[in-house]
Amino acid sequence: MSEERFFVTGALGCIGAWVVRNLVREGKPTTIFDLGADTARLRLIMSAEELAQVKVIQGDITDLNAVERAIAESGANLIIHLAALQVPFCRADPTLGAQVNVVGTVNMFEAAKRAGLSRLIYASSVAVYGRSEEYEGVLEDTAVQSPRTLYGVYKQANEGTARVYWLDHGVSSVGLRPYTVYGPGRDQGLTSAPTRAMVAAAVGRPYQIGFSGRQGLQYTDDAARIFIQAARAPYEGAGVFNLRGSLVDMAEVVAAIEKALPTVGGMISFSGAPLPFPTELADSGLRTLLGEVPYTPLEQGVAESISIFRQALADGRLDPARYLG
Ligand SMILES: NC(=O)c1ccc[n+]([C@@H]2O[C@H](COP(=O)([O-])OP(=O)(O)OC[C@H]3O[C@@H](n4cnc5c(N)ncnc54)[C@H](O)[C@@H]3O)[C@@H](O)[C@H]2O)c1
Repeated sequence: MSEERFFVTGALGCIGAWVVRNLVREGKPTTIFDLGADTARLRLIMSAEELAQVKVIQGDITDLNAVERAIAESGANLIIHLAALQVPFCRADPTLGAQVNVVGTVNMFEAAKRAGLSRLIYASSVAVYGRSEEYEGVLEDTAVQSPRTLYGVYKQANEGTARVYWLDHGVSSVGLRPYTVYGPGRDQGLTSAPTRAMVAAAVGRPYQIGFSGRQGLQYTDDAARIFIQAARAPYEGAGVFNLRGSLVDMAEVVAAIEKALPTVGGMISFSGAPLPFPTELADSGLRTLLGEVPYTPLEQGVAESISIFRQALADGRLDPARYLG
């Protein structure tokens, strides 16, 4: 391929900010396409000089013309599509949720096709699966889907859209299914509580995480690197792959926070039922696609996160209210 030029939707969000940080540090021309204008998540993890290298186009993925114009303007040859509304927003406004998550993703595939791009990388989610008790053992990429949220139904539609764009138009795609992404920038969505607890620790405030149990946790930087690697991996078809990360109990998350910052011992707790999603996802498909999968052990990811939060608090780049209300 000629020089890589990336177009990242939803890049002012949590995973997107880390995708942009990695791309800028590699010196890759990168265009952000996002409805928002708030660069707080980027500023949390990037310097002003790094940020200045990024082209930002404010726009709405529900507007196909705007997406087409922006892709043309960017000259991009690789698309990472992350823009979406999370579970609580889809629940509160199902119509808008479907417009952004379903129609918006159709628009991204259509715009990629019209721009003559042969592939697209997009975010699906573990929310396409049913409740944990519906499954036995480790879940393969192809396990039966039975989403319990509209968000999950919309992600399922994204996976179907990807399949049909491959069958009908030869547009290849890689869909990735994160579970719980944690780390700097993770300030919204159902599973943001572990990260909120890390901010509370950095501020020195007590915090109770509202769910318990075992789950897959992925460090934001790892998730971002996986998206970037997937964009580069030679692949034809419409594959969708689980992310695994660290499979941990909530008690291990709290222990990692306390290890990173012993002064908060006893201040971070958890209660409530486990998340309804299946705990153990197989990522053998992803390993076959990527070879080495970026992985930061939980203790290291938590320590890095708290260090970034503390530094940002010290120099005024982090408003704790964003995480703690
Ligand atoms: N964070 C997780 O744990 C997790 C888990 C599973 C799947 N995912 C998926 O990964 C992707 C990225 O997640 P995230 O946590 O970074 O999300 P996020 O909520 O932090 O960011 C989403 C971004 O999309 C933008 N956006 C929303 N509507 C838009 C529109 N109409 N047009 C353009 N931009 C719009 C927002 O402004 C925001 O910057 C999403 O598709 C999400 O569903 C995330």
